[in-house]
Amino acid sequence: MAIRIVKTDAPKEKVSADKLGFGKVFSDHMFMMEYEDGQWKDPRIVPFGNLSLHPASTVFHYGAEIFEGLKAYRRDDGGVQLFRPEENIRRMNNSAERMCLPQIDEKLFMEALETLVRIDESWVPSAPGTSLYLRPFLFGNDPFLGVHTVQTAEFLIIASPVGSYYKEGLQPVSIMIETEDVRAVRGGTGYAKCGGNYGASFRAGKKAEEKGYSQVLWLDGVERKYIEEVGAMNVMFQIGDEIVTPALTGSILPGVTRKSCIQLLKDEGYKVSERLLSAEELKDACRSGALKEAWGCGTAAVVSPIGHLMMDDEVFTINNNEIGAVTQHLYDTLTGIQWGRIADTRGWIHKID
Ligand code: PLP
Ligand code: COI
Repeated sequence: MAIRIVKTDAPKEKVSADKLGFGKVFSDHMFMMEYEDGQWKDPRIVPFGNLSLHPASTVFHYGAEIFEGLKAYRRDDGGVQLFRPEENIRRMNNSAERMCLPQIDEKLFMEALETLVRIDESWVPSAPGTSLYLRPFLFGNDPFLGVHTVQTAEFLIIASPVGSYYKEGLQPVSIMIETEDVRAVRGGTGYAKCGGNYGASFRAGKKAEEKGYSQVLWLDGVERKYIEEVGAMNVMFQIGDEIVTPALTGSILPGVTRKSCIQLLKDEGYKVSERLLSAEELKDACRSGALKEAWGCGTAAVVSPIGHLMMDDEVFTINNNEIGAVTQHLYDTLTGIQWGRIADTRGWIHKID
């Protein structure tokens, strides 16, 4: 299916790198297409703008929405590249399967990403640590209130030049373990990237922010005992000489950054375990000094050191609230590959030029 292109006749002013933050500025164009009668129709790039939706649209009432997040990086030679976009495409279709939303042809999805990035190429920033964040999203758009799997849907990709996700940048963030609300349950939607998972997290997030923490670390929804993930990133802990990250049990997001970090660490000979990790074990490791480093990882958050961990009103400081050697090395290696400063030996880079 050919992608139709309608260019804007009113390009916007670019915003300087120090004012970008995360997800506040948007490029000139967006990709969109509609699903009806069992097929996707009219894939097109159009000027970025508001949508007009029926007030009964499924997305407003029953939360039929999924999304993805990936970045386009500006290399030193001026070229632009994506990091493992096929992983995001696959995950989007897995999320769609969970939510009974239509699948998207992988080739068309990739072409949509490439075409949008090419057209908005001038929006890929070049200052250190900046990139063009791509946000594909898909939602049910039936104009009636019956609770039913959707027949019509809308798929868009918008693009936002971004700097650091956390105001702390690469400084350690403080994270609070949430012991009341849960994010996901067995059989639920935890492994899918659906909007509802995030909406339901706001209350705990607000509580954490009021106490001075950046985000919450979720415990499992069944026993409220095992560490799962942070609001917008997966987590890893160096306990002794073992690097531990919660196993993919169905209730946490299978992060692309998580998968990449595991691979990088294993390739360098680190012992990495994907296993159950209880909050009690983590507390014991904090108390005994066995916990050397902790960090979160995600597309938006990159590799983000965790300096303080609050559990049951007890606050633990990790590595003197400084970025540790493994975290720094992982950050340098991952971002080196993403921005093209370190050779990609694993086929992770998808060049746009
Ligand atoms: N966990 C959650 C809840 C997230 O929102 C994200 C961000 O996408 C991640 C983990 C990390 O996933 P990825 O590395 O694919 O961006
Ligand atoms: C991402 O890292 O891409 C995310 O989706 C995290 C968040 C902004 C929801």
